[in-house]
Amino acid sequence: MEHPKFTPEEKIALLSEIIESRKSVFPRDYSDEKIDEETLREIVKLASFAPSHKRTKPLRLQVFRGDEKNELGNKLAEIYKAITSPDLFLEKKYIDITAKVGKSDTVITISVNYSGLVPEWEELASVAMSVQNMYLACTAREIGCYWSTPGMIRHLPEFLALDDHQQCIGLFYMGKVVHAPAKS
Ligand SMILES: Cc1cc2nc3c(=O)[nH]c(=O)nc-3n(C[C@H](O)[C@H](O)[C@H](O)COP(=O)(O)O)c2cc1C
Repeated sequence: MEHPKFTPEEKIALLSEIIESRKSVFPRDYSDEKIDEETLREIVKLASFAPSHKRTKPLRLQVFRGDEKNELGNKLAEIYKAITSPDLFLEKKYIDITAKVGKSDTVITISVNYSGLVPEWEELASVAMSVQNMYLACTAREIGCYWSTPGMIRHLPEFLALDDHQQCIGLFYMGKVVHAPAKS
């Protein structure tokens, strides 16, 4: 008989540790250290294990790194300028948008595909479970991350080439966290 890798006690201890320590970490606390491709692929893969009613698999992720990430940052700033009335426009916020994207190793756009087979809220619930999987995987890998939902995302469908039955519901910022130097 095959021996399980972990006992139920070990599994719940590890799972509790990861769930309880999960938190949102913002780009200002990300270091310059790169997230390796394999780790990134692992995180995206774990997102796909969320359940979905009738197995509609509504999750649509688009991963932005390097030049493509800078293009996304510029696009978001451009949208902010376009949708903000001049009296409410803040130059600092405009600059911060690209700076935040620039400070992140990776930004993943989170979109939902509405299949029409189940109520839309069920597709959204499934995508939110996928995002939690990414949060937990990032926590385990000591990668800072958070789900951001700025008003600009409503204007991203064309840039993301989304279909009419798809909606962008957030940006997932990621970056290695700055570790405090070890005590000597
Ligand atoms: C659906 C959703 C949307 C969010 N949107 C934003 C956002 O636009 N800006 C932001 O600073 N945080 C956003 N967050 C992160 C929350 O602010 C954060 O989860 C909350 O403050 C609790 O902190 P914790 O994640 O460390 O437990 C969002 C979280 C969720 C679940």
